[in-house]
Amino acid sequence: MGIRSIEELCEELNAKRASASLGGGKEAVAKQKQKGKGTARERISQLLDPESFVEIDEFVTHRCTNFGLEKTKPLGDGVVTGWGTIDGRKVFVFSQDFTVLGGSLGEKHADKICKVLDMAMEMGCPVIGINDSGGARIQEAVDSLNGYGEIFFRNTLASGVIPQISVIMGPTAGGAVYSPALTDFVFMVEGTSVMHITGPAVIKAVTGEEVTSEELGGAKTHNTKSGNAHFSAKSEEECFHQIRKVLSYLPSNNLDSVPLEETGDSVERGDLELREIVPTNPNKSYDVHDVLTRILDDGVFTEVQPGWAQNILTGYGRVGGRAIGIIANQAKVMAGCLDIDASDKASRFIRHCDAFNLPIVTFVDVPGYLPGVTQEHNGIIRQGAKLLYAYSEATVPLITIILRKAYGGAYLAMSGKALGADLVFAWPQSEIAVMGAEGAANIVFKKEIDAADDPGATRMEKIDEYRRAFATPYVAAERGLVDRVILPEETRKELWLALCGMDSKRVGRPSKKHGVIPH
Ligand code: HXC
Repeated sequence: MGIRSIEELCEELNAKRASASLGGGKEAVAKQKQKGKGTARERISQLLDPESFVEIDEFVTHRCTNFGLEKTKPLGDGVVTGWGTIDGRKVFVFSQDFTVLGGSLGEKHADKICKVLDMAMEMGCPVIGINDSGGARIQEAVDSLNGYGEIFFRNTLASGVIPQISVIMGPTAGGAVYSPALTDFVFMVEGTSVMHITGPAVIKAVTGEEVTSEELGGAKTHNTKSGNAHFSAKSEEECFHQIRKVLSYLPSNNLDSVPLEETGDSVERGDLELREIVPTNPNKSYDVHDVLTRILDDGVFTEVQPGWAQNILTGYGRVGGRAIGIIANQAKVMAGCLDIDASDKASRFIRHCDAFNLPIVTFVDVPGYLPGVTQEHNGIIRQGAKLLYAYSEATVPLITIILRKAYGGAYLAMSGKALGADLVFAWPQSEIAVMGAEGAANIVFKKEIDAADDPGATRMEKIDEYRRAFATPYVAAERGLVDRVILPEETRKELWLALCGMDSKRVGRPSKKHGVIPH
């Protein structure tokens, strides 16, 4: 063969490119579509800004010769990788191609993912991984397993340095689920996403339990029961929209700050309806979403894990264009008390916000930790301690707004002054005490109540006496444990001023390798 012309060489390159872009071929793509799923490249173009994707490693192939795999060497090896932009900001991506060897992960497939993880770390940009895979490529044996290990290692090093987002858009089984679990957020799509360690067949063989794949590890299960996922979407399109939204609240890396996004919603806006939403009667319920939407820019609260541990809300919002992380007790669910799942959910979100420089605003209306044998035996002590730990180690601005109840240990656990809150605000109906007035009066005035001619009436009198004296924000304000008592309608403006006042916060913590967080 003589020296080839440049035209011939360019044609060869174009043919290779065309072959790589076909993925697993028409038949496999049609099968993918039948399942309601997009192809790896379609997904990337839906996620990123138009025409922004730059692909790398499209000609990578595996080098496995086991079980005849050498006869099938698809270009790209079942994963599309590269970078592009979202709202003009650079992100790195990988998207597994189920049409190629079932998106299974072998040595070179893993190398491609590791390369974008390394690049994302070096460039200080978020990384988004779209998972749709049969798991470890069986023919590549230990090379596949090692590939997963290399990914887990990088996910761990990148944790808290760059935002990492996992998107589940097909099967994710076995140890493969641990990469998503190591990242900041897991997004799932109803009906097509599944995550489990062992599938229904293995479970039936080992424990005798019968369960469908969807019930075991579908989007609903992980978004409501296990807490493994953070967002659920009805379609792939909706899922990409959710990801773009979440990234808008995050910096590109831990040394960066979040871009300001002015909405034109005046920070002076006061909402008198806030006076009515939280009842002064501590036994009456309400939906804390109604408080948040009246305070945040344009009424937008972007909730994280809305379906799990609903007694506490976690999410993002903006005030005067500044992004904040929000934790709020939800009075409507279990009276907003703290339990194992709520502590777990909130503490992880606090650490996420702290890692990525987002001020944390905590809305408090909490009667205490949930009593119960199950809670005690399942570790409410260590799980509850996580919340104390997460607030105490956080060095971002911490702003606490007590809406009503702040009782006992939960008063401290919900970003109390002693755990490092920079500013604590309280609404006039706040009750900051060891416990509610009824319980307290029964204990403190037991002798008087028992000795009274009319114990019922005396009891009511004593409850009232206690409530007036202690179930107020003023005892705490006298001690400087509440910095300001504010009118409900002033909250938005006060919050804005607090965010501006605290934005130059610089505090250190004792130097150490790392702490040992209770788990
Ligand atoms: C090699 C695989 C594969 C795998 C699928 N394929 N999974 N090839 N290794 N792990 C191939 C199939 O042989 C098939 O090839 C093509 O991908 C499409 O798969 P289908 O079975 O036709 O698709 P579907 O009917 O949609 O079923 C999808 C599936 C099923 C449920 C994912 O393929 C499946 O059960 N795969 C095995 C899953 C598994 O047990 N993985 C290991 C998990 S343990 P052809 O040539 O026919 O098109 C694990 C450990 C990780 O991952 C440990 C990390 C520490």
